[in-house]
Amino acid sequence: AQRKPIVAGNWKMNGSIELVSEISTAISKYKNEQVDVIIFPPAPLLCKAVESGVNVGTQTISEFDSGAFTGEIEAKLAKQLGANYTLVGHSERRAIFGETSEIVADKFAKAQEKGLIPVLCVGETEKQRELGATEKVVAEQINAVISKLGIAALSNSVLAYEPVWAIGTGKTATPEQAQSVHKFIRDMLSTQSEPVAQSLQILYGGSVNDKNSKSLFTQPDIDGGLIGGASLKADAFVSICNSAL
Ligand code: G3H
Repeated sequence: AQRKPIVAGNWKMNGSIELVSEISTAISKYKNEQVDVIIFPPAPLLCKAVESGVNVGTQTISEFDSGAFTGEIEAKLAKQLGANYTLVGHSERRAIFGETSEIVADKFAKAQEKGLIPVLCVGETEKQRELGATEKVVAEQINAVISKLGIAALSNSVLAYEPVWAIGTGKTATPEQAQSVHKFIRDMLSTQSEPVAQSLQILYGGSVNDKNSKSLFTQPDIDGGLIGGASLKADAFVSICNSAL
């Protein structure tokens, strides 16, 4: 394939020191494989995860450099401690913590400035899908970044399409539904830059498990997955990683 698949585990506010050991042992065999496996543990586990040898990212970062922002994660420090990636704009950050597309674009910019690869998360709610607004919503979320930073900024990033109605619900998008949105995104980007559109890895997220991952990952425009619940179980996560090979 022209794009190397990625399987990323977003632990959200779950996991433990023990789980870091368990998962890092289980996935160490992918070091030289044709899939990049990345773990996004809760911030307090960042150093443990780095020490364990896994490829690590943070679940969010501050859009600011440093200063009086109690509780926030500084991009430069995360990078110094060994993180390589950060999620930006996960739907839980947007919905629970009020992150607008403008703030998400600022976080995306800060990540790249400090040497972290941003994984930009986009996706529509159930209501928006029912209204037929899926493509409009996804386009707006992506265009917020492009209008701030230019299309070239996407060449050093990863995209994750995560329909909100599929997250943590057990209600996965069908491979056809997901592929259709992934293709829409790639076509939209190709009007601005064909190389960016063709090289950008677009992951699917939302109730991916070891049973449905293969049929999703074999779609032409799906380049792996962003896994929540199933990334907390070593066996399931390893099967999902295998299905991306
Ligand atoms: O970032 C991961 C997604 O929110 C998916 O979560 O696999 O538990 O549905 P889930």
